[in-house]
Amino acid sequence: MNRLTNKHIILGVSGSISAYKAPDIVRRLQDLGAQVKVILTEAGAKFITELCLQSISKNKVHHNLWDENAELGMGHIELAKWADAILIAPASANTIANIALGKANDLLSSVILANDAPLLIAPAMNLKMYQSHTLQDNLSTLISHHTIIIRPESGKQACGDIGIGRLAEPSSIAKQVAKQFISTKLTGKKVLITLGATIEAIDPVRFISNHSSGKMGMALVNACIESGASVTCIYGNITTTLNAKSNNISIVSAQQMYTKVMDNIAGQNIFIACAAVSDFSVKNASNQKIKKDGGDLTLELVPNKDILADVCKLKEKPICMGFAAETQNMLKNAQKKLKNKGCDVIILNKVSSADSGFNVDENEVIFLSQNLNKKIGKNSKQKVAKKILEIFIKECL
Ligand code: CTP
Repeated sequence: MNRLTNKHIILGVSGSISAYKAPDIVRRLQDLGAQVKVILTEAGAKFITELCLQSISKNKVHHNLWDENAELGMGHIELAKWADAILIAPASANTIANIALGKANDLLSSVILANDAPLLIAPAMNLKMYQSHTLQDNLSTLISHHTIIIRPESGKQACGDIGIGRLAEPSSIAKQVAKQFISTKLTGKKVLITLGATIEAIDPVRFISNHSSGKMGMALVNACIESGASVTCIYGNITTTLNAKSNNISIVSAQQMYTKVMDNIAGQNIFIACAAVSDFSVKNASNQKIKKDGGDLTLELVPNKDILADVCKLKEKPICMGFAAETQNMLKNAQKKLKNKGCDVIILNKVSSADSGFNVDENEVIFLSQNLNKKIGKNSKQKVAKKILEIFIKECL
């Protein structure tokens, strides 16, 4: 897997002669696995064509703050939500000033204001402009806002002057972007995650299960691995792709999940119970296909053991995060689960709406612990997972 695989990068191209290098930057980011969308400023479009950037990025180039085709006409919010990082290369003195001032007078500056992903800027301009107090003050402001500055290089400039101000090399710019995704916050930590739906056999043909796809759990697996953790993933029925970097253990029933969790729990620092575990299994499931005989069929169900609650009771208990899939009295039910199961965190997941929760790509949740009740707004499951982990690391480690 490349360092930018599955990462969404917005490349802002502003008004500088070095905008001609933007297609090369797009390519370098793609070579590292990223998907790239370009925002071209009005001044940037004087130096490079939209068509060229569209062909290379294989995505529509954005330039209009008032895009009628974007959902609800709020393209800047859609783009900000999509981005895992925003890179401005080349960043002109004017664009840098706009961002430092927090202006929202074009699409690029508006996306940046609405964004909470890492922001990187690669200035490119004449050396006198670059060395000016105003520009340097603006860069200092941006650094204090955690913006990463990719310093320009020295050399012969387009205007004939010699000195600092040339855009950094595209390959080095792409590498700096990739560096933002190397986190060491969970280095040395072992994480066990359950995910997906368990399946309880009725007979060799039929079963009882649920709508879980495993996507939320897998997003957490990916986020933990990106943060440096060593992950064991115990998964049931899923419709998503496994991460080759985790130790993946397949199970079918709730009982099998219970056994595999208990076999692997020793030495784990963190347990994340994201699986939708069947609360009941069929007593005396039939070995042969059950035939209809015109009458009713009664199945006797017996309760399954609660994996999360039992892990929380262990003497050497890892830090435990559970999920609460709820359709009504959500906060009350989730708080009850936090207390009754004895876990450290519950992620409250509303599963009754069609566009969030089970079997879709987006989610919105509430992070609950004894001291915290924090809403994580609707976004892709990958982003929600990252946010959950960020809060978890801050609150629980
Ligand atoms: N869970 C578990 N083992 C079970 C049932 C649930 O580990 N046998 C875990 C889930 O993985 C989740 C949490 O407990 O992290 C809550 O699951 P949920 O289905 O929301 O609630 P239940 O405990 O099953 O209670 P109810 O179905 O009554 O809401």
